[in-house]
Amino acid sequence: MTLKNTAMRWGGVSQLLHWLVVLLILTTGVMGLVMGDMRNSPTKIEIYALHKSLGLTILALATLRFVWRFYAGAPVPPPGTPRWQDRIASLTHWLLYGLLFAIPLSGWTFNSAAGYPLQWFKLVNLPPLTARDAELRQLAGNVHEWLFWLLVAVALLHAAAALYHHVFLRDDTLARMLPRGWLRAGRSTRPQD
Ligand code: HEM
Ligand code: HEM
Repeated sequence: MTLKNTAMRWGGVSQLLHWLVVLLILTTGVMGLVMGDMRNSPTKIEIYALHKSLGLTILALATLRFVWRFYAGAPVPPPGTPRWQDRIASLTHWLLYGLLFAIPLSGWTFNSAAGYPLQWFKLVNLPPLTARDAELRQLAGNVHEWLFWLLVAVALLHAAAALYHHVFLRDDTLARMLPRGWLRAGRSTRPQD
């Protein structure tokens, strides 16, 4: 498996970062949704701390991924893809990137405005982004939640598009985001790179 992206496939680094971030988003999002309703206990405090550490990890991985994307480029669209579809796909990808930054940063802003301390897995202390501020706390909390639901909606459309390409158009859009041999594209006529 090549590490760098080629004109035909996503390389190992982009694939690993893509699926790792998907897994972390699922875990962090579910934690976020359940932790607010938990009754006060040491476990609740642990879950909040874990939610924040995983969220910060997503922020770091999104940054890494963004830098890698510029360095390693991206595959060309599958042959025959209409221009408007390619445009929508690119727009969706940039929107997803934006959300991968904005959601953790709004969580961090909420945490700072509330005056809570912030640690990454009890290893690194992180500074507040703002001073204590009740109004900002309210706003950042709402933004954090709305952006999360926007991510859910966009990611569902994005995943549905990937599955549509695989099942109905039978091209290798999904197969090339997975290790070679995991999925067979229905009608790829491309040379193996
Ligand atoms: C991509 C990463 C993240 C996702 C997907 C995520 C998702 C969520 C969700 C779904 C909620 C529940 C919202 C609600 O129902 O009110 C939540 C709450 C919360 N998140 Fe995150 N979060 C992420 C990153 C972070 C980070 C990095 C921090 C802090 C540094 C953070 C701090 C918080 C806090 C403190 C709450 C509770 C807010 C409240 O009590 O109203 N989150 N998060
Ligand atoms: C939280 C969920 C997800 C996020 C944030 C996300 C984000 C992204 C981003 C930003 C890209 C652009 C690649 C890049 O420029 O590095 C991408 C590509 C891709 N994603 Fe996702 N994704 C998610 C879930 C999924 C799921 C569930 C699937 C499959 C069912 C999927 C399949 C793909 C495929 C096939 C590509 C490559 C598209 C192409 O070659 O044009 N993604 N994803």
